[in-house]
This record gives sequence, structure tokens and C-alpha cells, in this order.
Amino acid sequence: MPEHGEPEPLCDLTEIPDGTGRGFTLRQSGGTEAPLDVVVVRQGDRAFGYVNSCPHARSPLDWTPDRFMSLDGQHIQCATHGALFQVEDGLCVQGPCVGRSLTPIPTRVEGGRVIVVPNRPRR
Ligand code: FES
Repeated sequence: MPEHGEPEPLCDLTEIPDGTGRGFTLRQSGGTEAPLDVVVVRQGDRAFGYVNSCPHARSPLDWTPDRFMSLDGQHIQCATHGALFQVEDGLCVQGPCVGRSLTPIPTRVEGGRVIVVPNRPRR
């Protein structure tokens, strides 16, 4: 589990099946803040990270562990009221929070590994 603020590999990209998302918990530096739950969604060779919290009611996004996507696999979908979010930028395009966005977590792929830089998001 990476520590807050330090870029660190989360996993190999191949551990996230293409077109799906996987949840991770990031510990915070010094252990003074609550761990941060995030989701990383893979699209081909790219990975997109967001805080696992819906902007509508701040519920976790996943239906069951690691089930983050709509049935057609095209959007991240909130389990609570069904909001749909674009994978590339986290913008809500359908549901009760249209126009709002998931909180991004800077994420990149290097050497086949998923790297995150978990700056603490503002709420
Ligand atoms: S909490 Fe996500 S759509 Fe309502």
C-alpha cells in the first residue's frame, strides 16, 4: 500500500483487466489521516485514477469489490444511484450529479506498472 504523496507502483497494469477498474486503499503519511480508497480504471495501455467516492452523496462507487463499470463497460458507474462517469476525466454524464466530477488521482503507467501520486484531495 503506497504512502500518501509518494509515487509508488500500485500493481502491474496486467492485474487490471482491460476495460475494468480495481480498488486500492492508500495509506496516509504518518498514519494521521484516514486511508484513502481509490479506483484505477484501465483502458488499453492507459490507467485513470479517482477517489472512490461519488460526488452525489459521497458513497463508494463499486457495486461489489472491484466492480466499478457500467454493464456496457463504457463508463464508471456509481452503485448507489447509478450515475455514469467518463473514464478519461471523471465527468458525470448521466445521473443525479451531471456536470460534477470524480476527484482525480494522478495516475500513469511506467514500464507496465501503474503509478499513483496520491495528493490529498480537497473536499
Ligand atoms: S451516490 Fe452516486 S449517484 Fe448517488
